[in-house]
Amino acid sequence: MHNSLSEHARNILGLQLPTDPRWVNLAEIQLNEILTDYAWCEQKAALTCISLIQKNHDKHLLVQELMPIVTEEWGHFRQVLAELYKRGLSLGKPRKDIYVNKLIAFQKKDGGPDERFLDSMLIMALIEARSCERFKRLSEGMEDEYMRKFYRRFMESEAGHYTLFITMAEHYIDKKIVRKRWAQWLQYEKELMTSEEVRGDRIH
Ligand SMILES: [Fe+2]
Ligand SMILES: [Fe+2]
Repeated sequence: MHNSLSEHARNILGLQLPTDPRWVNLAEIQLNEILTDYAWCEQKAALTCISLIQKNHDKHLLVQELMPIVTEEWGHFRQVLAELYKRGLSLGKPRKDIYVNKLIAFQKKDGGPDERFLDSMLIMALIEARSCERFKRLSEGMEDEYMRKFYRRFMESEAGHYTLFITMAEHYIDKKIVRKRWAQWLQYEKELMTSEEVRGDRIH
């Protein structure tokens, strides 16, 4: 899928604000909390992909592309859970996801089906892009080599996901419209990140 990604899509991916470097140290200390949070993020990603398939059953290519992502995200959930159990830790409760809720608030509620579809792709692209950026930070900045490698594998996988959602948006919607709306999403996410406190117990 990555190979078919247009130049255009490559250019428009790009978060506006890098993660605060202090976050890696905080996340390193709160391993149980961050792994719990991460496990739930993966489960939510799998569920969202299932729901996107249900809502877009008529979009053949999208359904085809999302089916393996469901499996992959569920596999991530299992891997993170195994990591918690291996350490004698347990899966805590899911928390209220402020970051994702604030992104949902930016989604068009009153637009036509195309606009709503576009936002459903772009919000996923953004969450995947930010997760990928954060895993990159962890895979580069953590002391523990095993954990650096652990996060590195997820980073590579999430990078594939965010390009997929942009590619799907471009497949069904005019590229110019995709680009314009993506720029708005990036700007909104930058403001959101600026206003959020830096916490080590969550992925976003
Ligand atoms: Fe994942
Ligand atoms: Fe993902």
